[in-house]
Amino acid sequence: MTLLALETSCDETSAAVVRDGVVLSTIVSSQIEMHAEYGGVVPELAAREHLRNFQPVVRAALSEAGVGVEQLNAVAATQGPGLPTALLVGFKAGQGIAFALNKPFIGIHHHEAHLYSPWIERGGDALVANYSNFQPNVSLIVSGGHTMLVHVEAMLKHRVLGGTIDDAAGECFDKTGKLMGLAYPAGPIIDRLAEQGNPAAHNFPRPLLNDSSDDFSFSGLKTSVRYFIRDHPALLDDVKCVNDLCASVQAAIVDVLVKKTIRAAKRLGVRCVTASGGVTCNRALRSALDAACQKSNLKLRLAEKSLCTDNAAMIGILAEQKLRLGEAATSVDADIAPGMQLA
Ligand code: KG4
Ligand code: ZN
Repeated sequence: MTLLALETSCDETSAAVVRDGVVLSTIVSSQIEMHAEYGGVVPELAAREHLRNFQPVVRAALSEAGVGVEQLNAVAATQGPGLPTALLVGFKAGQGIAFALNKPFIGIHHHEAHLYSPWIERGGDALVANYSNFQPNVSLIVSGGHTMLVHVEAMLKHRVLGGTIDDAAGECFDKTGKLMGLAYPAGPIIDRLAEQGNPAAHNFPRPLLNDSSDDFSFSGLKTSVRYFIRDHPALLDDVKCVNDLCASVQAAIVDVLVKKTIRAAKRLGVRCVTASGGVTCNRALRSALDAACQKSNLKLRLAEKSLCTDNAAMIGILAEQKLRLGEAATSVDADIAPGMQLA
């Protein structure tokens, strides 16, 4: 099966061509620099940029894969959740392409695609889905818009355990970074600066760490950093102090994410933990998850760094899997679902 996949739920315009579990091409055009000026994603600008980028990105994906449209057997696109005007671009275009080719169209839940992205491995130059070692797991999805824990009970069978009740973890990185005067998105910058800092320099709160739920909360941590900076403004002029601040904020976020993930895995008796989403690029999170899983004898699968942030490859791999397992196609008249919940 050769499938064209499209992803435009937020600020990445992405197209991928997938064939029999192999990612033949994946093109991602990020708008991050455009939105950096505004300190966050501006939905209307994102939609216009998707419209501008869509055709070149799809053409590049087809050409890099060496696939003509006539060779496509199906088309997939993100249906939700996401920014409505952004989703519309990829979803409606995908339906149009499928209709014109008279091929099945399949709408994909963005988070469901994240859940299975850790099973896409790098095999030589190619990214390949490998479900041979698939097992029930607890999956952490952690990005600028979402922070959630999901129990993946079996292939395509999952249950949301908890999520953030306020800010997402990526949002906490970005907003605390802004308080420190760092550019948007601050997550990768904090990751870099924290490497030179002392994570024990400041003891910031670990919200809901000892709460029995699988929910997260990061707004209190952000507020605590705000008051800390208000009371010690001179620290921002000292490179070492900024590095310590970054390392301490990062340690608080990572601590909560890792401990709650491991606790859920142990409670549910799964032997495997997976993680994906933009914040999974964070090196401290990757190594802390690795250490915690080793200590608890859990298998860890982290999404490839290139697949942590939003991409159409994960949409295509999941869509192909769904079609292969007999899931019904989505109508070419179906609507986007910006508030779609993970079932
Ligand atoms: O998944 P993503 O590309 O977009 C959505 O939010 O859906 O994630 C972007 C988020 C931003 O908040 C960004 O700061 C964060 O992921 N991020 C990181 C790192 N790389 C990206 N946060 C911490 N450390 C990183 N290395
Ligand atoms: Zn995402």
